[in-house]
Amino acid sequence: MYEYKGYKPPRNGWAISRTKMEQWDKEGRLHFPKSKDGRIQRKRYLDELKGKPVSDLWDDIGQIAAQSHERLDYPTQKPFALLERIINASSNEGDLIADFFCGSGTTLDVAERLGRKWIGADLGKFAIHTTRKRLINTQRQMKKSGCDFRAFEILNLGKYERQHYIGVNLGLREEEQQKQLKKKEADFVSLIIRAYKAEPTDNFKTFSAKEAGRLVAIGPINMPASRLFVEEVIKECIEKHITKLDVLAFEYEMGLFPKIQEDAKAKGIDLALKHIPREVFDKRAIERNQIEFHDVSYIEVKPHIKKGIIAVELTDFSVYYNQDIVDNVIASLKNGSHKVLVEKGNIIKVLKDKDGIVKREVLTKHWTDWIDYWAVDFDFESKKEIKRVVNDEGKFDEVWTGDYIFENEWQSFRTKEDRSIELKSVEHECQKGRRKIAVKVVDIFGNDTMKVIDIKV
Ligand SMILES: C[S@@+](CC[C@H](N)C(=O)[O-])C[C@H]1O[C@@H](n2cnc3c(N)ncnc32)[C@H](O)[C@@H]1O
Repeated sequence: MYEYKGYKPPRNGWAISRTKMEQWDKEGRLHFPKSKDGRIQRKRYLDELKGKPVSDLWDDIGQIAAQSHERLDYPTQKPFALLERIINASSNEGDLIADFFCGSGTTLDVAERLGRKWIGADLGKFAIHTTRKRLINTQRQMKKSGCDFRAFEILNLGKYERQHYIGVNLGLREEEQQKQLKKKEADFVSLIIRAYKAEPTDNFKTFSAKEAGRLVAIGPINMPASRLFVEEVIKECIEKHITKLDVLAFEYEMGLFPKIQEDAKAKGIDLALKHIPREVFDKRAIERNQIEFHDVSYIEVKPHIKKGIIAVELTDFSVYYNQDIVDNVIASLKNGSHKVLVEKGNIIKVLKDKDGIVKREVLTKHWTDWIDYWAVDFDFESKKEIKRVVNDEGKFDEVWTGDYIFENEWQSFRTKEDRSIELKSVEHECQKGRRKIAVKVVDIFGNDTMKVIDIKV
């Protein structure tokens, strides 16, 4: 039993001899608390300990807490720490990490921060949009703390939820499956024609119907209408001297309009691109004439140009969604509940109180309420979209697709914490001459629209 430097021993004495105590003290291995009534402690360093190998059951990483900054409200978001462990354990800096079901982009975010290259894919628009905003934020933080980060691109490969609308019986022979698919596609086309109140026609390659002096082409059911599809339609217009046409589709390939409409106009063709509303699958809605096909959304921008400097202001944005049929929703709404839906370009909240009395509240009071994100590419035609095609010798040729890659040179977007959005871009220095500026807007449903303007600096 001994006292050491005025510190009293525990009731049963120190666990080590005075000589050992003096040795540890000399080595700086002791921690002396301020108060002499406190207990002397031994310093142990983590890297000297053997530790315990991580087992195959990881229960030390908690779920993302409800109030956590990490939370992005993506339903299946994984914790950052989980992916950090996986990526650290299975790759080195500079390696390439891929997540083909990236969701809110946790894997890509961790990969970027740990100095890995990455590729992400997802078929959901929301997933891509959430990931885009997340990675821009990550880059902003990395820039602030002086870390290197890489630019990234978003490419649209155009495959969407085919099975959602057209399911074939996979138990059938291939031939039968094809037959079933053909029949379903034909049914789909006649459904749309009916909803559009048009007359079917058989005389064309790409058109299926006629309506008020315009021909009508219907895009695919299972994927966005592609540039190739619209170009085929325009080709037939030129061959047969058709000047007015409507294209109907659920979705359009990213970046397709307005350029395609301008190209058509230059050829003397009045081309309208319209969205097929979801209600076309609702028989009662067709019977009640409640289906409306709206033009794709449009953007108005104002360039501010002075002496080699340009800034872009967003001045209007309109969307014409008509996704839900309010009467049907009200009828199926339980007392004491509410639902948010879209009606004639406005988002409305329908509430049914305890007594079944219905109230509506318009949530989009101003056009800016529709916008979640917008971005500017100050020199749109500076980066061509190149694809690699195998040539006769089995080697790759680089071929321009005819499109350009949108480069985010400036953007403003809403986040969970900060709901504000800027309506004027930064001032951007550029060389004198003509150029094209592209503005991309993503609305609160994750749909994106682009506008290209010609300017002279
Ligand atoms: C479980 S979530 C991934 C969540 C992600 N780990 C995170 O931290 O946010 C799975 C994702 O796969 C996507 N998905 C499902 N089927 C797909 C497919 N065939 N191709 C691409 N993505 C798909 C869904 O849209 C969804 O976002």
